[in-house]
Amino acid sequence: MHILLQIVTIIWLIDLKLVKTLDNGLVRTPPMGWMSWERFACNIDCDNYPNECISEQLYKDIADRLVADGYKEVGYNYVNIDDCWTEMTRDPVTKRLVANHKRFPNGIKALADYVHSKGLLLGIYGDVGTKTCGGYPGARGEDGTDYDTIDAQTYAEWGVDSLKLDGCYADTKNMTNMYPEMSRALNSSGRAIVYACSWPAYQIGQNPDYRRIAQYCNYWRNFDDIMDSWTSVTSIIDFYAKYQDVLVKYHGPGAWNDPDMLIIGNFGLSLEQSRAQMALWAIWSAPLLMSNDLRSIGGQYKEILQNRDIIAVNQDKLGILGTRVHSKSGIEVWVKPMTPIVKGVNTYAIVYLNRVVLGTPLIISFKLSSLIAGLPSEPLYNVYDLYDNSKLIGKLSNDQNLTLKVNTSGSVRMVKLTPVFKSDEIENDLN
Ligand code: GLA
Repeated sequence: MHILLQIVTIIWLIDLKLVKTLDNGLVRTPPMGWMSWERFACNIDCDNYPNECISEQLYKDIADRLVADGYKEVGYNYVNIDDCWTEMTRDPVTKRLVANHKRFPNGIKALADYVHSKGLLLGIYGDVGTKTCGGYPGARGEDGTDYDTIDAQTYAEWGVDSLKLDGCYADTKNMTNMYPEMSRALNSSGRAIVYACSWPAYQIGQNPDYRRIAQYCNYWRNFDDIMDSWTSVTSIIDFYAKYQDVLVKYHGPGAWNDPDMLIIGNFGLSLEQSRAQMALWAIWSAPLLMSNDLRSIGGQYKEILQNRDIIAVNQDKLGILGTRVHSKSGIEVWVKPMTPIVKGVNTYAIVYLNRVVLGTPLIISFKLSSLIAGLPSEPLYNVYDLYDNSKLIGKLSNDQNLTLKVNTSGSVRMVKLTPVFKSDEIENDLN
């Protein structure tokens, strides 16, 4: 009865084995943490925005909040610097990147020490081309000089734990060789540094070579920058749905597609849409990098970001990129197979997303076997509501319907299905 499912799983595992991924042992589950870009962008005006400019104080404040407000405890441990942290030129003698003296008076090493003292990790930002997107020095000089080795050594000496390498001011055709060069430089730096590439984001619609990208990068952006709006989030959802058959193949422990930052707690998403972003990012096993102001975030947003049951879906050790199995008239269903696997049957996370922008909340109902191909009939499936403290809300067989009422305008319901075999229940009763 479970043979079909087992064959599918075996084929999937064999396929995954054949896809070689960057093997530096890092980020075996999707990275979690914080990144400055979407919320703070390239604000370098510390006179008018003392608390919001890109400065060591901002990253220290965020590190403090991550620890004091419970984010670290649920897994958010990277503090990632983004663009605009350097001086406009390299050091004329050493050719090293130099942190802006005014905004980072103690330098990056001191900031890394501070972040580490809190039990957190520090990420930094560079660019594979001649300049970063904000116009700061990139890893290649205007004269073609290659600074990968110098930069990787510098980051390692400073105690940096992660590098996002952007792709502005570079010829996209050369990325095939340029991105691997930094990967090698990081590997030879003597420090374990996570490598996040923006490589396929500069090749949208041009069939990026994901096999190669996954060989050299720990995670990679593949679509446009997220902005503080639901329109931006839905454009990302649509991109992931469109390319899911390709993306799913190269996604797994140590090698992740990155749909970009979580914008939960900013100004652009309703509470319902914030739940939707968290649900989808969890279903995709995507990096969970918040870009928000943790010093002033509202309690309900914090609750979404710290939902342990949904984080557990995101961090599931199989690391499968969940896919869209239904989409019609604004209603979407997304499914992710995960652990535990009981007698060959997976646990599943399911999201019902309602994108309809008119009318009352909708009752959405699908037969389980129509959502999950080959779902075996023997066990029953316990249904837990992940946005209601994992309350048990049903016990279904594969030919019964999962029926949930979902609000409109980008709202979700998210459940976990766990297989329960009759024999196990009897055993449990006896114990
Ligand atoms: C690009 C990236 C963003 C951000 C900016 C910084 O647009 O995609 O995530 O890093 O550059 O300038």
